[in-house]
Amino acid sequence: APQYNYILASRPADGVGLITLNRPKALNALSSPLFEELNHALAQFDEDDGVRALVLTGSEKAFAAGADIKEMKDKEYSDVFKAKFLENWSLVTQIRKPIIAAVSGYALGGGCELAMMCDIILASPTAVFGQPEINLGIIPGGGGTQRLTRAVGKSLAMELVLTGRNFTAAEAASWGLVSRVSENVLDDALAVAGNIASKSAIAVQAAKEAVNIALETSLTEGVRYERRVFHGLFATKDQKEGMAAFAEKRKPTWAHS
Ligand code: CAA
Repeated sequence: APQYNYILASRPADGVGLITLNRPKALNALSSPLFEELNHALAQFDEDDGVRALVLTGSEKAFAAGADIKEMKDKEYSDVFKAKFLENWSLVTQIRKPIIAAVSGYALGGGCELAMMCDIILASPTAVFGQPEINLGIIPGGGGTQRLTRAVGKSLAMELVLTGRNFTAAEAASWGLVSRVSENVLDDALAVAGNIASKSAIAVQAAKEAVNIALETSLTEGVRYERRVFHGLFATKDQKEGMAAFAEKRKPTWAHS
């Protein structure tokens, strides 16, 4: 396994990859070097046939306290423009395997945006979310204005982005931004990942793609897309196996293809 400076990558269970943000002195502030390591680890897991679901977590105190303010503070427009600053953050959304965010502590600014780029968010009761960029004289730059608005609607997103106020795990759950609040958030996230990893990997990846299309297209196009992918799965071994196993009253053994 590659050695990282700002993250840890491990395989805690069959089919499950775990990435832990590990820059404790800066509350996991998402510096450029950290994000490069994160993208590298995600790409490695995405390529690895032995991994079928991913969990992304931080520490008890912080999932991530945002982009690295000290790295950004002296940059000029031409610096960030030429470097395509934060453009590589979107690589998280290109990963085909499901990513579950297990959020404890601060998930602020880029930390909240990183969680929202994941497929499922589970939150500890200690989780503190927010898009506080307005307090720094900027706006979210990792997709926050777009993903938060799609998740919670315009009025709430406006309130949160324009005031920069923090919000709790309970609020996030009541709005549907996180799927649930959990006392043992990492264990629960690993259990969800293990459950997903026990399914057909090809069906899981097709399902992730189809759900994501819902946020990108019209209902008619989205349903058409879903049906095409659904039809396509009849060309897989796992459709034959899954349906044969049902008919024969046994458990399926997935080929993941
Ligand atoms: N960038 C760089 N360093 C950070 C950081 C960040 N986003 N967040 C925390 N740190 C550092 C602190 O500077 C401090 O370092 P030193 O010990 O060297 O002083 C260390 O982490 C511990 O932080 P605090 O002493 O501040 O810890 P606290 O418990 O008193 O406060 C906090 C915690 C409320 C989260 C506070 O650290 C904070 O407000 N952090 C910044 C949150 C923020 O504004 N995030 C948005 C960043 S902008 C962004 O993300 C843009 C985007 O859309 C991509």
